[in-house]
Amino acid sequence: MSIICSVFFWTGFLAVVPYLVLVLYGAYGCKEQDLKKKYNAKWALVTGGSSGIGAAIVRKLASQGLNVVVVALDDSFMASFKEAIVTEFPQVSFRFVGCNLSEAQGTTYMAAIREQTDDIDVQVVCNNAGFITTGAFADIPLERNMANYNTNVTACLQISHHFLNRLLDRQLKGLVTFTSSSAGFIPNPMSSLYASTKIFLTTFAASLAAEYAEDGIDVLVIHPSPINSNFYSNAGKMSALLSAQKLSSSPSVIADTICCNAGKVIVADQGIITVVMKIITTKLLDWNVFTEIMKLALRYTGDYKAMKVRRQANKQD
Ligand SMILES: NC(=O)c1ccc[n+]([C@@H]2O[C@H](COP(=O)([O-])OP(=O)(O)OC[C@H]3O[C@@H](n4cnc5c(N)ncnc54)[C@H](OP(=O)(O)O)[C@@H]3O)[C@@H](O)[C@H]2O)c1
Repeated sequence: MSIICSVFFWTGFLAVVPYLVLVLYGAYGCKEQDLKKKYNAKWALVTGGSSGIGAAIVRKLASQGLNVVVVALDDSFMASFKEAIVTEFPQVSFRFVGCNLSEAQGTTYMAAIREQTDDIDVQVVCNNAGFITTGAFADIPLERNMANYNTNVTACLQISHHFLNRLLDRQLKGLVTFTSSSAGFIPNPMSSLYASTKIFLTTFAASLAAEYAEDGIDVLVIHPSPINSNFYSNAGKMSALLSAQKLSSSPSVIADTICCNAGKVIVADQGIITVVMKIITTKLLDWNVFTEIMKLALRYTGDYKAMKVRRQANKQD
């Protein structure tokens, strides 16, 4: 009996303690770095740079003297951000690519991005644009699901592939970041695509980090705790998201995390909510067991019940 107890104790200990050491190192042991100096860089590119986390990353990089290419939808957010950022940082150069990253082939937005970047060396690439679609997967039009998938995943592949090759060809140091999400730690019924796209980014980034370490290219994937941004206004009225929003922090914490953690850790679990979620969902509870609990529990949630009512009403129409 005592052998079994000590096996359980040491298994738990070995799973949680090294993780907490890494988290504490990332949060408190890594001081802010000047990314312009670290990578001897002139230009950065930030997708989804017109609002929320992306806008905070743009501001942070500009404050370090990096010139920034801002990629986002060509809409009113982009227009007002453009006006604000050039006034805030008159000494920094900005280029703006208004495009839609949800396109399946990526030819139009890659052409627009290349037009603005073929004559410069972009050494810091932040894959940040993304959004969530809520509701039961089959109830959401396929085009909407695919647009969500393409923005969250395909665009990151296209952009990273292009700029990694440019860095390798020119033998330049650099940084590629991905804004993932702690939603990817667990199955996310009622926003199933979002969690799946985010765990894709996490695994993809962790694999790239090993592939390019010897080339001087750092890869960092961030799992933010809830951040106050337009993300929630676009997310529908799901109660889990409304609760998360109440606990949200400023987008600047993610920009700070990038500057502190670049090249120091590969996965940045930012904030207490992400850390607690990771411990519960990946260390204390087995993932397979978690999926069974999720399946049993979902039917009792308000979001699921509301979806059933909506589906019934649609049938009667
Ligand atoms: N907020 C959170 O709590 C949280 C937590 C974990 C992860 N994240 C992730 O953080 C990233 C940034 O989100 P945020 O919180 O900063 O939300 P946000 O304020 O809505 O910013 C999203 C950005 O992506 C752009 N974007 C969305 N769809 C696009 C498309 N099809 N083509 C081009 N650009 C597009 C948006 O442009 P417009 O402004 O024009 O719409 C905006 O600049 C996302 O990947 C999100 O999944 C957020």
